[in-house]
Amino acid sequence: MERRQFLNWVGVGALAAYLPVAIAACSEESNAEKATPKADAEGFVTIGTVAQLNEKGSILNDELEIIAFRNPETKEIVALNPVCPHKGCNVKWKAEEKILECPCHDSKFALDGKVERGPAKKGLEVYETKEKEESILVKIA
Ligand code: FES
Repeated sequence: MERRQFLNWVGVGALAAYLPVAIAACSEESNAEKATPKADAEGFVTIGTVAQLNEKGSILNDELEIIAFRNPETKEIVALNPVCPHKGCNVKWKAEEKILECPCHDSKFALDGKVERGPAKKGLEVYETKEKEESILVKIA
């Protein structure tokens, strides 16, 4: 077999092997799964259902950077940006302590996002929320 003929065979083989993978990666279905939820006319996006929140105790949406849970006293839904302003770790909701705690360097935040204990110097952004037909909506825009 000549060198040119060998290279043609290798090229065709590589194309046949990688083409289905490339097509699958670009299909609408895979892009739809990764699509960011669209905000409604008022800027609210659905982050989950009341049933999910009641079952898990909190909802974390990494893509939208939202953590939502119920205020243990008022039972209202609270939504904040979980990204710690210190170095960017995701804070965790500690329902029993009624506090948001950063697992990286132990900063603590109140339900209104204010810093309770550093090293974080800035608080967490708080979002407006509402319930609509069993869905939890958070205003991000
Ligand atoms: S990243 Fe949160 S306290 Fe350091």
